[in-house]
Amino acid sequence: MSLPHDYAHTHVCGESEFVDDRPIMKNELFVDVFFSTRAHALIKRVDFTEVLKQPGVVAVFTGHDFAHNMWGTIFKDQPLLATDKVQYAGEGIALIVATSIEAAQRAKHKTIIEYTDLAPIMSIQEARKHESFIIPARTIERGNVDEEMKKAPHTLEGNIVIQGHDHFYLESQVSIAYPLEDGQIEIHSSSQHPTETQHVVAHALGLPDNDVVCQVKRMGGGFGGKESQAAPFAAMAALCAMKLKRPVRICLTKDDDMIMTGKRNPFENEYKVGFDEHGKILAMDIKLFSDAGAYADLSTSIMERAMLHSDNSYFIPHMRVVGQVCKTNHHSHTAFRGFGGPKGVATAEKIIEAIAHYLKKDPLDVRKINLYSDVDGRNTTHYGQLVENNVLDRLVNELENKSDYRKRRQEITKFNKENKDFIRGLSLTTVKFGISFTTRFLNQGNALVIVHNDGSLQIATGATEMGQGVNARIAEMVTTELGLPRTAARVMPTRTDKNANTSPTAASSGTDINGAAALLATRKIKKRLSELALKLLDIPKDKWASKTAGLGTQPEVMLDTPNLDENDPNAGAEWESGVAKYFEMEFQDGWVFHPKHLDKKIEFKYLILEAYLNRVSLSDYAFYKIPGIEFNKMTGQGDAFLYFTQGAACSEVSLDRHTGEVKVLRTDILMDLGRPVNHDLDVGQVTGAFIQGLGWVTTENLFYNDQGLLLSHAPSTYKIPNVQDIPRTFKVELLENDENYANVRGTKAVGEPPLLLALSAWTAVTNALSYLPHFQVDYPGIRIPATSENVLREIMPEKFKEWER
Ligand code: MTE
Ligand code: HPA
Ligand code: MOS
Repeated sequence: MSLPHDYAHTHVCGESEFVDDRPIMKNELFVDVFFSTRAHALIKRVDFTEVLKQPGVVAVFTGHDFAHNMWGTIFKDQPLLATDKVQYAGEGIALIVATSIEAAQRAKHKTIIEYTDLAPIMSIQEARKHESFIIPARTIERGNVDEEMKKAPHTLEGNIVIQGHDHFYLESQVSIAYPLEDGQIEIHSSSQHPTETQHVVAHALGLPDNDVVCQVKRMGGGFGGKESQAAPFAAMAALCAMKLKRPVRICLTKDDDMIMTGKRNPFENEYKVGFDEHGKILAMDIKLFSDAGAYADLSTSIMERAMLHSDNSYFIPHMRVVGQVCKTNHHSHTAFRGFGGPKGVATAEKIIEAIAHYLKKDPLDVRKINLYSDVDGRNTTHYGQLVENNVLDRLVNELENKSDYRKRRQEITKFNKENKDFIRGLSLTTVKFGISFTTRFLNQGNALVIVHNDGSLQIATGATEMGQGVNARIAEMVTTELGLPRTAARVMPTRTDKNANTSPTAASSGTDINGAAALLATRKIKKRLSELALKLLDIPKDKWASKTAGLGTQPEVMLDTPNLDENDPNAGAEWESGVAKYFEMEFQDGWVFHPKHLDKKIEFKYLILEAYLNRVSLSDYAFYKIPGIEFNKMTGQGDAFLYFTQGAACSEVSLDRHTGEVKVLRTDILMDLGRPVNHDLDVGQVTGAFIQGLGWVTTENLFYNDQGLLLSHAPSTYKIPNVQDIPRTFKVELLENDENYANVRGTKAVGEPPLLLALSAWTAVTNALSYLPHFQVDYPGIRIPATSENVLREIMPEKFKEWER
């Protein structure tokens, strides 16, 4: 079944409400943030006298006004507003509160500030030189890397430079804070993590958590950028609201949002690999260096995921991966679709390409012989997890055929010999993305399901909707369980007073965790309804409560069995349909019946009325935790993930030899998503993630000045993909896989994994370049992104040397 997104119709009509669409209250105020333009400096003097004289300005607040001016998602190391020292350009210093946003924006420029500059660290290289790190390096290791490397017939060394990536969500960071009676506060935020937003606000203001409610109705995109970094802006609005006892709204301009907020972490990775004459990898030694920016944020966790994905889909018998998170004076980088995964996988895929180039083999053949397989015990990762439900081989072989890989390889080789204007490349890459938060305690969720008197439902979970369709999937799971159309249920705005202690909607696990919890809550209700329906079979209809309850002439129907208490969303469910049955009662098409008493069908909404009149509870709550996550962060060993979402993509690119322009001619994707709840929504996620990744690896280029102030802070200077950048031929298909027994209803998470398939376009670029005569020995060293300029540098290195002299 493939229903549209539950709010597609209001989105296209412009009726969907985002935070800044909330009506402005009559006494509401607006905030603009005054931020640093220096990378690293002491604040010598800051003077708001002129600011306060500007028309419309009501107040100015600084970090000193918070009860606690410190926050952080893993380590509390970051001031909400810098007070005596700034550590990056774009770091907030003061809040200008005014009666209109324009007044606040105008006034902010009247701030007088004097800095004493300190030496900044602006790159990973400098950070390494000065040993400026967030935490000590971590290592994950298997086997005997040094010895096997020495014994290997061939070795190669190299590096890969990976730049950042702006989230470019269409809705900027935004929050409105409403002060309520008796010192309470309600926050409406565009946040992937309402619980953390609640906690950050409470801590910042010195309030207990129960005085703060955070509501998230939906986001206009998050992509990881609102996992941690929405919270400080909520705290800023909350501070002003509490101080002034008026509603306060903060909504950053696109430019300020891009300058202030963190991006995908840049990485610079080094590798050494040992392999045999077939290209089979024997040993791999990888060092990953990431740029965290000025504060920890999620960067240590992102590095961990990068380390856990440096194998990608390949069995590497002897492997060592070291991860070092560097502290620099850039905006504090954060989660971005794929988390660390893309940086690990990019490294692995570059290594494969380099090996193939060295051995003069087709990279696809090198990939194939290195894939995880159940033969010869080549099925455990370097962190000791068994790769179960492995479909890599199927994906690669099917895609090789579907994409006509071999034939096109021949054509490309011929084309590249003959054509003087363009050069083409082809690459087929895979992804094996671990699903679960690698931090065990985050793998929990809860849900509240309410059936109203008329048989309509409301569902509340900790999941946040950012366009990915998590609500549509949850509603579909709940309603199909009850044999109802999806429209019978509404998923309500996420609120911390209904669902507490939740995790961010992240790690692609929104549906897995919250869908499972909602299904478990639904089944509790379903079991009670089933028992009631069974009992009603024996009672003449004219004796039912709907006819007699008001009279009190009939005994109340009592349920005898205990409530359901289950953590496994597949327990008791038939695998085919995914639906659980109690007392043999069936729920279908709005009716409830026993297969042996088809003459006594009860309409669902009528059963609900009976349940109400017989005092059977029609709402329930359930908790779900992902079982079996046993990854030990100290040893770097264990089952880090519940299962792996896998996929493969084959991309063909054309490079203009004169301008360096990259065009993706064709991409074929084959994705393993288990058994999707909603096929079309999932295909939408695959398509969107791939295109977003394509922007990262080709056109999106972050330019900073020498102080790390972002210069490319608008779509005019930062090139995200548009409709013309979509592959000319673009085919997305899902693999049939009915065997993911680990997850709710046999589904697999989709949100992030397909982004990593965009690396096929990047390796297709390097593959194209490798046809050039000057790359017959070395492998092209192009970075991510392969912009036109970067490509041209590889095509005509001599010219660039000349021009740059
Ligand atoms: N899709 C849309 N349209 N907008 C988004 O912001 N975020 C992605 C992905 N797909 C995102 C999206 C990221 S980074 C994640 S982790 C997942 O959605 C989160 O949602 P899920 O866990 O429900 O898949
Ligand atoms: N992925 C995304 N977000 C996270 C993770 C993760 O593995 N861990 C903590 N936040
Ligand atoms: Mo997604 S980067 O886990 O929010």
